[in-house]
Amino acid sequence: MAGGYKYFEAVEKNAGLLGILTAIMVSIGGLAEITPLFMRAHEVKAAPGTKPYDPLRLAGKDIYVREGCYLCHTQMIRALRAETERYGPFSTAEESVYDRPHQWGSKRTGPDLARVGGKYSDEWQLVHLKDPRAVVPESNMPGYPWLTQALIDPDEIVRKMRVLRVLGDPYSDEDIAGAGAAVTGRTEMEALIAYLQGLGITRRTQPADPAAPETAP
Ligand code: HEC
Repeated sequence: MAGGYKYFEAVEKNAGLLGILTAIMVSIGGLAEITPLFMRAHEVKAAPGTKPYDPLRLAGKDIYVREGCYLCHTQMIRALRAETERYGPFSTAEESVYDRPHQWGSKRTGPDLARVGGKYSDEWQLVHLKDPRAVVPESNMPGYPWLTQALIDPDEIVRKMRVLRVLGDPYSDEDIAGAGAAVTGRTEMEALIAYLQGLGITRRTQPADPAAPETAP
């Protein structure tokens, strides 16, 4: 025992050595946690009810990315009680299979949006996106009024859906054939609102796997 204590003391008194050994231990722990997830990433399948985006929501998702909404909003509810009570059931990888790139984000200047679909009316979303302070006076979110002017390019959406099908999204020939008509004449604002109103609605009330715990222990 006494010999073991000597080593212990030597490490504790040498900050450099302690730092190096700590880094090694943390790396081993990290690898043990992260490597299996990488190996099994391809096994992740869509959650029940999770479908590839319809043409209007697909356009909306790309506007969300273009405008950098993810810089202030996450779409990742963690398995912590404070989060699940505020936002709803925690997020799972199965819900994001059709998001390229995923929109989990890392910064919450505003609230998480993973389950914001249906929380407000389309009208509220419109007023809020044009001028957030019209409905939330203390908001520091920028307004996006120009989105009501810009129209979606139908050909672009058709091309995107073809590419997504190559990547594995199960779009049928009819889905792609009807895509152009579905977005013709629609504004970017309509597309963005359609996207927001669809977020998380398939898993509002119950976990994807009924056996999965609603909150982490
Ligand atoms: C500079 C940071 C910032 C950016 C960029 C930003 N937001 Fe926000 N957002 C906020 C803040 C802060 C709030 C909370 C106050 C409010 O409701 O306006 C918010 C609230 C929201 C809400 C209401 C959420 C709820 O549960 O009440 C929605 C929806 C939303 N933002 C969507 C968007 C979209 C879509 C974009 C991109 C077009 C965007 N935000 C860009 C900061 C931001």
